[in-house]
Amino acid sequence: MDYKRRIHKFQAHFGKKGFEGALVAPGSNFYYLTGFNPLGTLERLFVLILPSEGLLTAIAPRLYEKELEEFNGEVVLWSDSENPYKIFATKIKETFKEGEKLLIDDTMPVGVFLKAKDIFDKYSLHPISPVISELREIKDKDEIKAHKKAAEIVDKVFYRFIEGKLEGKSERELANRIEYMIKNEFGADDVSFEPIVASGPNGANPHHRPSHRKIRKGDVVIFDYGAKYLGYCSDVTRTVVVGPPSEEVKKVYEIVKEAQETAVQKVAEGIPAEVVDATARGIISKYGYGEYFIHRTGHGLGIDVHEEPYISPGNKKILKDGMVFTIEPGIYLQGKFGVRIEDDVALVDKKGIRLTNADRELITL
Ligand code: CO
Ligand code: CO
Repeated sequence: MDYKRRIHKFQAHFGKKGFEGALVAPGSNFYYLTGFNPLGTLERLFVLILPSEGLLTAIAPRLYEKELEEFNGEVVLWSDSENPYKIFATKIKETFKEGEKLLIDDTMPVGVFLKAKDIFDKYSLHPISPVISELREIKDKDEIKAHKKAAEIVDKVFYRFIEGKLEGKSERELANRIEYMIKNEFGADDVSFEPIVASGPNGANPHHRPSHRKIRKGDVVIFDYGAKYLGYCSDVTRTVVVGPPSEEVKKVYEIVKEAQETAVQKVAEGIPAEVVDATARGIISKYGYGEYFIHRTGHGLGIDVHEEPYISPGNKKILKDGMVFTIEPGIYLQGKFGVRIEDDVALVDKKGIRLTNADRELITL
């Protein structure tokens, strides 16, 4: 990844929009711009000052001195005996005139924000997210490559864990196993979120937290998990059944599969996001299950596992080459089971291509 180029591009982008600078806190925007992902920076002031032209400055706790050796910009370190907000106030005054329009990282910890409030009050602050996401949502070749690799990892994990027996294992055991495989066996940096394993009636809750419930015969089981590779996320869901499926399970599964397939086919450059959502929703509604599809069809993927573009009703955002997002319709029947199928899709050469490719037929274990 060419971070220097990325910073220049971002500077030009916000400069054109009339902003004089940006203040960025550790997190995904920070990683996007610098490739640095400092751990545990919540209460100590750590901030990037980025003018619309020229060099950026990081004000950082001395603890990060080693990590910042290769940092592409000025580094001002402070130690625990100093007041970093004084250093920050001086630096920001040197860089910007009072009243200027600055972007501020809306993921900055509120504690830091409140301590710096007197400094910030001298400027006109605007959230960074809507501006930086215009760049972040269009992935370059290297970013798509990283997404592809993250997707290949989760496909491999799927085939590995369905080799084993699910019956008698708890949701939590399986979630831990998936997390272990992602982190240790297939070369990912990390999971992109805590894996979801939802069995039987728990499957009707899309964000179920894995419990001690043991998988039993007849259960429909949803696995939703993701990996990070070079900082970029994958996010996949497969639904399997333990023992022969009932007629209802087969029917619901085929509806979700058709909705997912048709929505993926619909993806193309120039199509509004809401049309892809409506495609999946239309099929599920046609079969009479519309009220049981209780979430949006998908979300963008990048350094964050949920980012722009959201594939949701009413979102008129036009899909463009370089966007990467999920397509994940589902049907949730309270007290019974849920079915969701999720793939990661990249828009390349004006068409949607699936990055995740694990088997989508109903698998009976
Ligand atoms: Co997911
Ligand atoms: Co998802």
